[in-house]
Amino acid sequence: MKRIAIITGGSGSLGLELIKKYLDNNYIVYAIHNNSEITIENDNLFKYKYDLENEKEFTILIKDLKKKITDKSKISFIHASGIYSKSNIEDFDYEEFNRFMNVNTISFLCLYSKLFNVIKKASLCNIILISSNLTKRLNKGSMYYVLSKSMNNQIVKQIAYEHGSHNILANAIAPGMFISNMNKDYDKDKLKTIENNIPIKKLLTATDLASYIVNFTENNLYITGEIITIDGGNTLGY
Ligand SMILES: NC(=O)c1ccc[n+]([C@@H]2O[C@H](COP(=O)([O-])OP(=O)(O)OC[C@H]3O[C@@H](n4cnc5c(N)ncnc54)[C@H](OP(=O)(O)O)[C@@H]3O)[C@@H](O)[C@H]2O)c1
Repeated sequence: MKRIAIITGGSGSLGLELIKKYLDNNYIVYAIHNNSEITIENDNLFKYKYDLENEKEFTILIKDLKKKITDKSKISFIHASGIYSKSNIEDFDYEEFNRFMNVNTISFLCLYSKLFNVIKKASLCNIILISSNLTKRLNKGSMYYVLSKSMNNQIVKQIAYEHGSHNILANAIAPGMFISNMNKDYDKDKLKTIENNIPIKKLLTATDLASYIVNFTENNLYITGEIITIDGGNTLGY
């Protein structure tokens, strides 16, 4: 069985942890990055530089995957690219909204639609779209982010429903906050407040989140169309 992982956001805090764990589990990894480098070297790792704000074709990646994927392949496809910043509803900016939608959401649809005829040949494909627990409990000034991530929650349901017969399982994972490039400027007091609001009193880490994702895709044969919240109970009440 040829094990293949496709990862967007491969240069991010979560992406790098995912790459390491899939390589450790003997996957061949195809990872997308943009402005940052993927700082891992391995013969089983193939890197692709695409700007997901604008990219629609993914020609080289698709050509490479077409050569690799067979009916014996087991695929994990993780859409982990993402951008986050604050803005107010009253300052709505169409260009900025499009940027969020393209990186967080639409880029996945462009890539998946191009890959579908290849992926459906595989014996199993587990798709994970990274969402956010902010789709459950909201956050002021995060409208673009929440809207794009909420759409990811729906996309997995649609794929699960329409493509389940091709051995494609699609789920969203909605993490709570974890320290990453996205929030490295948060001050200690803010982090402590977030931590105190979590019932288990511990922040998630990119390493632990990557383990949950890799274990899930390694073992999942029947869960599909679900939104799995991983936030230590943060959205239960606060
Ligand atoms: N950190 C959190 O608290 C948190 C909580 C819930 C959900 N999430 C989600 O978890 C996922 C991973 O985020 P992270 O925290 O690991 O953040 P991160 O370290 O900032 O990683 C973001 C990734 O997205 C990529 N990206 C951004 N803009 C791109 C573009 N235009 N084209 C291509 N790639 C682009 C970055 O690539 P380059 O750097 O190479 O440009 C990077 O690989 C994201 O979907 C995020 O929304 C994060």
